[in-house]
Amino acid sequence: MEIKTIFVAGFGLMGRGISQTAAEHGFKVIAYDTGIDLLQKGTESIKVNLEKSVQKGKLDASQAEAIMQNIETTTDLSQAGNASFVIEAVTEDENIKHGLYKKLAEVLPDQIIIATNTSSIPITLLASFTDRPDRFIGMHFFNPVPVMKLVEIIRGLATSEQTYNITFDLAKALGKDPITCKDSPGFLVNRMLLPFINEAIYALMEGVGTPEDIDKGVKLGLNHPMGPLELADFVGLDTLLNVCEVMYKTFGNPKYAPSPLLRQMVAAGWLGRKSGRGFYVYNN
Ligand code: CAA
Repeated sequence: MEIKTIFVAGFGLMGRGISQTAAEHGFKVIAYDTGIDLLQKGTESIKVNLEKSVQKGKLDASQAEAIMQNIETTTDLSQAGNASFVIEAVTEDENIKHGLYKKLAEVLPDQIIIATNTSSIPITLLASFTDRPDRFIGMHFFNPVPVMKLVEIIRGLATSEQTYNITFDLAKALGKDPITCKDSPGFLVNRMLLPFINEAIYALMEGVGTPEDIDKGVKLGLNHPMGPLELADFVGLDTLLNVCEVMYKTFGNPKYAPSPLLRQMVAAGWLGRKSGRGFYVYNN
């Protein structure tokens, strides 16, 4: 079946990025969330991104308008019944995802695939909450979604070959360059990223360097676009702690244990850019 309309469940940071990307690549998007205010905020942020592209001369105003026209928003989950593919990007909470899948089962035609953007919950576990484990898969995007080329495609134990092929091809149609990985904690990229960020936090905790020097070291010495602490603030310290905890718990290996400073900062509500304070202070 040709995929024309994508239902994106969850219009937070990742859901908005996925919606914008899909709309830019000619797909119709139905973006769902529970509150009108969230939908308005999300639409506004996509508009702002597109306006910046118009100002830079990367898009003309009519193209930006056409992209916006591709995105419809709704608080009505039954709209999923009008889509040919579902991408779930709601909060990283098993219970919330479980509740959503239960409701989706009531409105979603049988053949439709559900892909989850989870960064930490096992795909096989999430699949068991659905009525279609063979048509369920992981599709892990990276932030900021419109810019980052990577998508990790993760098969659950029951994911069918057809589901995998359709999802892989969809990632390419979204302008991404996908990789495939096993349903293993942290998948591939977070498994490498978390120990790296965690080590930077240990170096800070032990006074080996200032945040500025730790980040500068990585940017100038390794040619990364952001230093690890800057990146941690960008992703959100709560998200990172969550992924770290899952890896530590599942592998049972102390090398994945979150640093005490990471735990402390999350407890203090210093979550990075989104809360105005993390390893750095943000004024707006
Ligand atoms: N949405 C859309 N576009 C954005 C954007 C956003 N939030 N932020 C930046 N951009 C675009 C800009 O418009 C600009 O586009 P053009 O080149 O077309 O003009 C481009 O990205 C570069 O942006 P800037 O010039 O403003 O800034 P920059 O050069 O400093 O780049 C960055 C910003 C792209 C975020 C860059 O710093 C970067 O790549 N950082 C690393 C990001 C990263 O590692 N992400 C992965 C996080 S891990 C994750 O997501 C997985 C997980 O599960 C935790």
